[in-house]
Amino acid sequence: MVIKLKTTIPSKDKGRLLMPLPYDETRVLDKLPTQKVIAVINKKKYTCNLFYKEDDIFYLHITRLIKKEVGLGSRVSLTLETTEENEETNKIHNDVLDWETSKCKHIMKEVGIKENDTIADFGCGYGHYTIGCALALENTGKVIAIDCDSKALKWINEKEKMFSINNIETIKTSGESTISLPDSSVDVILLYDILHIQDKNTGKSLAPSLYKEAYRVLKKNGILSILNFISDVKTMKMENNQQMTFDDIHNDIINVGFSFSHSVENGVHFDWYHSSYRLKKGLLFSQLEKGVIQNYIK
Ligand SMILES: C[S@@+](CC[C@H](N)C(=O)[O-])C[C@H]1O[C@@H](n2cnc3c(N)ncnc32)[C@H](O)[C@@H]1O
Repeated sequence: MVIKLKTTIPSKDKGRLLMPLPYDETRVLDKLPTQKVIAVINKKKYTCNLFYKEDDIFYLHITRLIKKEVGLGSRVSLTLETTEENEETNKIHNDVLDWETSKCKHIMKEVGIKENDTIADFGCGYGHYTIGCALALENTGKVIAIDCDSKALKWINEKEKMFSINNIETIKTSGESTISLPDSSVDVILLYDILHIQDKNTGKSLAPSLYKEAYRVLKKNGILSILNFISDVKTMKMENNQQMTFDDIHNDIINVGFSFSHSVENGVHFDWYHSSYRLKKGLLFSQLEKGVIQNYIK
């Protein structure tokens, strides 16, 4: 789809410039929370993100390159083209965003998140569960999203702005197996799709250290929430090199001092969603692996 309009690049810029577009001209576009478009300005093509919020307005992200080459305050002829990639993959992007903002919020409430809690999402990745936690807090409390991948954390910051959420704090680590939070400071800690990963520095499984660290940073009666998938547990080995099972993970957690609390269905494995090979093949949300969230009390 191609739409043409005349507009002025705003002259004020607070760092990340989201330019509102006139709704009458853009109403024919798909109302997706986020999509990639080609913006043609002065005959030059720029790949940009286009956001749609509930206020019925599309916002075009004016990239650093546009600011540099076109300039703030310039009157321009703008052509927007939706990309081919959009047509193939928009459905799953939209389904993932919908899941994060509705279904996940309810899952997090079932886990036990309540208003004013402090949540730590260790190994948060692209924040599929961070956003649901932040929304389950109903604009109170705080989610501390911890990861060693700065690109993933940046994306969480983008989503936070997009959904007007302001209770997420991001912490970039160097990939160690300790959690840089004080003792007894957290109400709920998520260890989702992370226990099969190895410490970048020592090459050892992160799991044993993370269970102890979770116990240390949780307040009394705080919740350790874990999510593992069959496809990953198959790859995990015990110290004696034997195949790890879900029962072994459970026993390791109990041995650190936790008590089992409850299970919550419908955890989602997002690994295929981050594979460009799978996306190109036309991945559907329903094809993502599901797992059971297990919750323990300190
Ligand atoms: C498989 S992803 C899971 C992401 C998210 N929890 C989810 O379920 O969608 C694992 C994430 O853990 C991060 N990670 C791996 N080792 C880490 C470490 N030692 N400290 C912090 N983050 C780590 C990776 O960068 C990646 O984003």
